[in-house]
Amino acid sequence: MSRPKVQVTREVFDEVLDYLGQHFEVTANQDDRPFTPEELAQALTDKHGALTVLTDRIDAALLSHCPQLKAVCNIAVGYNNFDLKAMSARAVLGTNTPGVLDAATADFTWALILATARRLTEAEAWLRAGEWQGWKLKQFLGMDVQGATLGIIGMGRIGQAVAKRARGFDMPVLYYNRTRLAPALERECNARHASLDELLAQSDIVTLHTPYSADSHHLLGAAQLAKMKPSAILIHAARGGVVDDAALIAALQNGTIAAAGLDVFESEPKFNPEFLKLRNVVLAPHIASATTNTRRNMAMLAAKNLVAALTGERPPNLLNPDALK
Ligand code: DGY
Repeated sequence: MSRPKVQVTREVFDEVLDYLGQHFEVTANQDDRPFTPEELAQALTDKHGALTVLTDRIDAALLSHCPQLKAVCNIAVGYNNFDLKAMSARAVLGTNTPGVLDAATADFTWALILATARRLTEAEAWLRAGEWQGWKLKQFLGMDVQGATLGIIGMGRIGQAVAKRARGFDMPVLYYNRTRLAPALERECNARHASLDELLAQSDIVTLHTPYSADSHHLLGAAQLAKMKPSAILIHAARGGVVDDAALIAALQNGTIAAAGLDVFESEPKFNPEFLKLRNVVLAPHIASATTNTRRNMAMLAAKNLVAALTGERPPNLLNPDALK
């Protein structure tokens, strides 16, 4: 019997390809050039499954070219590149990779918090430009992180991991989440539930950990940024689109807030070039989960989901159980 055919849309670790190769006929894109929507449709037209990344849009238009497709497994916890309704309508299973990237993403959030509060990248650029003439009492003065109030928007696994790391900095922690955490978990995270308005008004550091959807589109825009303290910093390692980038640029230009640390942007990788002109931002190219172990674990978990889906088992991280009907 012929083996199911699968497409891996971007470069992955060799062991992931070896594992998939034990089960499937694998076509890989190890030269790592992103497919255009047309190329993706062409690549998936005769495939039973795909291992995808967040830039591969899986929607009704694509699915109409892929009559054999049974499962698409994202190497990401976010899955806003999937139209799950369209996938379920064609009985295509979708999966993501929750859990394995929580620690790396929370660590990187802290890297952004500290780098932004202490103006690390601004100071480094200045030093590299040969500007340093000597020590000065008032050089690159930053903000204290110890004791500052941390506001976490989105208190899922990653938000909780960020909160737990705040203990070492003796920070009061507020969180805003659609569902309130159980009291024991609130205690474990040392965090108090607040409304979005209260969190924005009281926090010295606001960090976002909410997935992107129609509901969270521009969750932070001009009106919300105006509610933050002028001394506050915003950290964003969630998903482009949760923040209105044009409004954030205006808020950073006119002193509505003090600074921002950003790992994600609207329209990645073509983010708003105005960010590059600002000294009060720390910028990163969507690397919060990028440690070797974490990215390997994400790709392997996606591969395990694909093997389960195409061998008649329920994938561990199934997003659309209605597709099974
Ligand atoms: C995710 O998993 O959604 C990340 O954004 C990819 O690094």
